[in-house]
Amino acid sequence: MEAHEEETATALTSRRPLPAPPVELREHAGRMPDSRDDPEETYERLGKVICDHLVAALPETWSFEGKRVLDFGCGAGRVLRHLIPESGRAELSGCDIHRPSIEWLEQNLSPPLNVFVNGEHPPLPHPSGTFDLILATSVFTHLVETWSAWLVELHRLLGEEGLLALTFKNRGSFEGPARAAWHEDWDEDQIGMHVYGAGLGWDKGGPAVYQSQWWLRAHWGRAFEFLHLEPESVGQGIAVMRKRPGHFEPEDLEALEPGEPREIAGLRYSLRHARRESAFRLEQVEGASERLRHRNDQLARTRAALERSRSELRREKEARERAERRARGLMARLSGRLTRQLRALAARLARCGLRIARRRPGRLS
Ligand SMILES: C[S@@+](CC[C@H](N)C(=O)[O-])C[C@H]1O[C@@H](n2cnc3c(N)ncnc32)[C@H](O)[C@@H]1O
Repeated sequence: MEAHEEETATALTSRRPLPAPPVELREHAGRMPDSRDDPEETYERLGKVICDHLVAALPETWSFEGKRVLDFGCGAGRVLRHLIPESGRAELSGCDIHRPSIEWLEQNLSPPLNVFVNGEHPPLPHPSGTFDLILATSVFTHLVETWSAWLVELHRLLGEEGLLALTFKNRGSFEGPARAAWHEDWDEDQIGMHVYGAGLGWDKGGPAVYQSQWWLRAHWGRAFEFLHLEPESVGQGIAVMRKRPGHFEPEDLEALEPGEPREIAGLRYSLRHARRESAFRLEQVEGASERLRHRNDQLARTRAALERSRSELRREKEARERAERRARGLMARLSGRLTRQLRALAARLARCGLRIARRRPGRLS
């Protein structure tokens, strides 16, 4: 860090409160619970709670001294900002695919944070073994297709015995599926990795990925040793894992666990629900297109009625203009006839020796 950057970082470290990201970036990290509280304060408080729980779940021997930490999928830094007090003794980095969040962090909290935009797929540009601790809050809870590729990439990026602390969705965050009438309740033995809302955009919260604990231990456990696994903590579960030695490919983590009957049960559960969910979404889409068709018909009828009134108005206007033209012609002819008669009368009077005064009408001179 350059000297002037160090000064800025020190100033920022002691500055409270830190600048808060705008509402659209705060909401990119997840909709805030409806509350009358100050939304900035809620964002700050939630981030602090998550950060404190993650740090508390690290091994007792953990210290930030001299460590390199990455917050993978950091958003606008809801969690990472609470590690800024550690920036004097640890190097703090954050990355995300969401450019606006990273740009905000660059402009407001960097330094001390090193932040960068990453692609949707691995790799990150760092050499193997760069980080001592990687955090990922509410990120693997949305990775449907790329979870295994990212997990092995984070494994590569961790140094020997490096730690991965992340959140996962389990029974404690099942409120979305639980609200869907067609969805079955949480059942740890019937669920492996289960996706709800596949294909939903980030603006709608993105897809939600659920994992049971046995499945995490079986699949993630191949590349990492679980040190802490808590299914319900900060709304989501928390897992802290230590990197196992070796090299792993995504398929190594995806392969079914031999001799584990819950794998088949989990796949059946997911397949059943994928069918129900697609039927439900299809019905929603059909309902929406039916409503749209109805609106379009209404619009077409209104447009036709408007066109009819417009032509009626046009016809009335033309008839009025014709009547006005006729009235003007009539008036012109009438006044011509009248003035002709007056002129004839005046001539007759003149011949009789009388003159019609021009200046004073009505008086004889
Ligand atoms: C629910 S938000 C959580 C953000 C942040 N960790 C927090 O707790 O406030 C999920 C974040 O993961 C990011 N994300 C999704 N896929 C990603 C990927 N492949 N690499 C990095 N970030 C990703 C999203 O852009 C989003 O910022």
